[in-house]
Amino acid sequence: MEVVILSGSKQIGKLAADAIEELVRRKPDAVLGLATGSSPLPTYDELAARHERDGLDFSRTQGFALDEYVGLPAGHPESYREVIRREFTNRVNIAPENVHGPDGTATDIPAACRAYEESIAAAGGIDLQLLGVGTDGHIGFNEPGSSFASRTRIKSLIEQTRRDNARFFSSLAEVPHHVLTQGLGTIMEARHVILVATGAQKAQAVRDFVEGPVAAICPASVLQFHPHATVLLDEAAASALKLADFYRHTYDNKPAWQGL
Ligand code: GLP
Repeated sequence: MEVVILSGSKQIGKLAADAIEELVRRKPDAVLGLATGSSPLPTYDELAARHERDGLDFSRTQGFALDEYVGLPAGHPESYREVIRREFTNRVNIAPENVHGPDGTATDIPAACRAYEESIAAAGGIDLQLLGVGTDGHIGFNEPGSSFASRTRIKSLIEQTRRDNARFFSSLAEVPHHVLTQGLGTIMEARHVILVATGAQKAQAVRDFVEGPVAAICPASVLQFHPHATVLLDEAAASALKLADFYRHTYDNKPAWQGL
């Protein structure tokens, strides 16, 4: 796991966008794993700017959402399918039919989850997965206790997560209780994972998953087993890390050819 501590979210967005740009130029039909929440927004802004300014071309890429609420009507502005369209894919030239998400409106949920796993496999697997982290250490919507072997499935949200996400809705009561999410096993198969965390409210979760034991109580800790996981933090999110100085030293002295 590589931990990079940067001065703010703009710098984080630029570095994550560098990795995505490098991938898309090297592999124009790259498969991108897309996250929602506030953490990836500066990365999406930066990619949209590079598309506008430099013609960074996403026409052959595919996008797969991490997760989705169950029970929001199709087209609801806070459904993750809509959020991903609005915040990213509509701002670059990814073909709408190349943007996929688990179907939270399906009547047969297990079949929809199986179909989603099959569509990821049919695309050749995810090359680069963007992630945020919840204040309880969740990734996607894999709440504490999620199996490290889990695949796309339905989950119940912990109240803390519903409260954290209530800012996107007009009241807490509107936040669904159920979600579909790629499993931890699904996420672990992405070839490169970039997790972004900013702000003091993430400091404890960051310390737990980066430096704590690997345990289902902190789902993001499974990334300690990932062969290519990058963690991009601002100073506040990094503030509880024991080895922060070591991470800074390592990144400052990294060979230039290495990239993320
Ligand atoms: C939601 C999403 C996660 C995201 C998390 C943190 O629960 N399902 O994918 O990582 O929120 O969001 P934020 O980046 O807004 O803190």
